[in-house]
Amino acid sequence: MNLINGKAIAQKILLEIRAEVDALKARGHTPGLAVVLVGEDPASRAYVRSKDKTCSELGMFSQKFELPATTTQEELVALVEKLNADPLIHGILVQSPPPPHINEAAVIEAIDPRKDVDGFHPVNVAKVALGDPDAFVPCTPLGCQRLLLEAGIETAGAHAVVLGRSMIVGKPMALLLMQKGPGGDATVTVAHSRTRDVAAVCRSADILIAAIGKPEFVTADFVKEGAVVIDVGINRVNDPTAKNGTKLVGDVAFAEVAPKCKAITPVPGGVGPMTIAMLMQNTVQACKRLNS
Ligand code: GUN
Repeated sequence: MNLINGKAIAQKILLEIRAEVDALKARGHTPGLAVVLVGEDPASRAYVRSKDKTCSELGMFSQKFELPATTTQEELVALVEKLNADPLIHGILVQSPPPPHINEAAVIEAIDPRKDVDGFHPVNVAKVALGDPDAFVPCTPLGCQRLLLEAGIETAGAHAVVLGRSMIVGKPMALLLMQKGPGGDATVTVAHSRTRDVAAVCRSADILIAAIGKPEFVTADFVKEGAVVIDVGINRVNDPTAKNGTKLVGDVAFAEVAPKCKAITPVPGGVGPMTIAMLMQNTVQACKRLNS
């Protein structure tokens, strides 16, 4: 079994991005990212902090907006519109999910597609579906694809099963894997919570992307001997032996699945760091395009 070290791969990519940031700054352009969080969800707060911190480490400009859960739709859209017009900001990210009184689609549609570094705006969703190289691709699936490429996993002709159909991961992941070219050319099946005999479908995968958001859902009987498993899940569960009483687990029951795999990503230290690296990459790309 080969452990795919997402943290180390992400660090290597961040070094390359750092060089691009330095070159842009030398020409008077500092890539800037605005991260907006509505409400107090602790996991979302941790993600937002981590995005902000990585920006600073790379010498990028970052602005963090932590708004109360009572923020209205109109206030949020007004902030997005202000950021659209701000020449220091090249990327805008509104952390998902927002509180239930906010219409997320309307907020996403308010973002200038040229600053939509999450790749959630319908213009970018369409571009990804069309295979347009100018698309902003959602960071998590982009990071998964990059991990497969960096780890030397052949996707062409492989049967890839994507477990999960979210806007953020599953749907775009399936599109990327079926695209023509490196990291694509796979035969793709999308499985989800309503799939009949989901274990059998997953067991037919050469490459299994677990993004269903259920702790340790993928057990050994879901995995073919010699498969590659990418675990997108980040689930906090109770653990009486841990100092704070909780621990992070993926969507994969790692201990029982890993021995069957050709390669597998750990949680933490797998997909998570890659998502942030791809966000930085998208923000640098946005800065370049907005200044060319
Ligand atoms: N929530 C979970 N993942 C993401 C992400 O990549 N972007 C945003 N905006 N929200 C998320």
